[in-house]
Amino acid sequence: MRIEKYCVSVAAISALCGMSLGIFMASHHDFALAPAHAHLNLLGWVSMALYGLWYRGAGIVRPRLAWAQAIVATLGFVIMVVSLGLVLATGKPDYEAAIGVGAVFTVLGMVLFLVQVVTDGSHVRLARPLPA
Ligand code: HEM
Repeated sequence: MRIEKYCVSVAAISALCGMSLGIFMASHHDFALAPAHAHLNLLGWVSMALYGLWYRGAGIVRPRLAWAQAIVATLGFVIMVVSLGLVLATGKPDYEAAIGVGAVFTVLGMVLFLVQVVTDGSHVRLARPLPA
């Protein structure tokens, strides 16, 4: 699978889950999970879609760095949203450490993205064929 397709697919799945959670909250008049909904939509849908669109437009990327970045970012928001949801749903702080782990992965994903953006690197490939 291409890196941009992976990122945008993860983004669309996140949007479907986030929107479904929003509809669930609205229909039950229970907004306790609103912060989890917001982080799922903003880290899962918006950030992953932006990563994917950047990879699509970049032309040249460092593929191993790109896949490491996308997977770290995915792990980050999934761990963070699930553990945040558990803390909010149960009212118990048992999963707070996991929120921190997810946050660290999320920040690391953004750091790797910045490295991808600002470095040229010698191990590059064309993200798509050059026009004839
Ligand atoms: C079908 C689509 C969606 C539905 C039904 C929905 C529903 C909701 C509901 C019911 C709330 C809680 C409102 C309250 O606390 O009074 C909320 C909050 C929020 N939503 Fe959505 N939402 C949707 C899509 C999105 C998307 C796409 C984003 C971002 C890209 C988003 C970002 C937020 C944010 C930032 C909050 C505030 C969270 C907080 O106060 O902690 N939502 N949404």
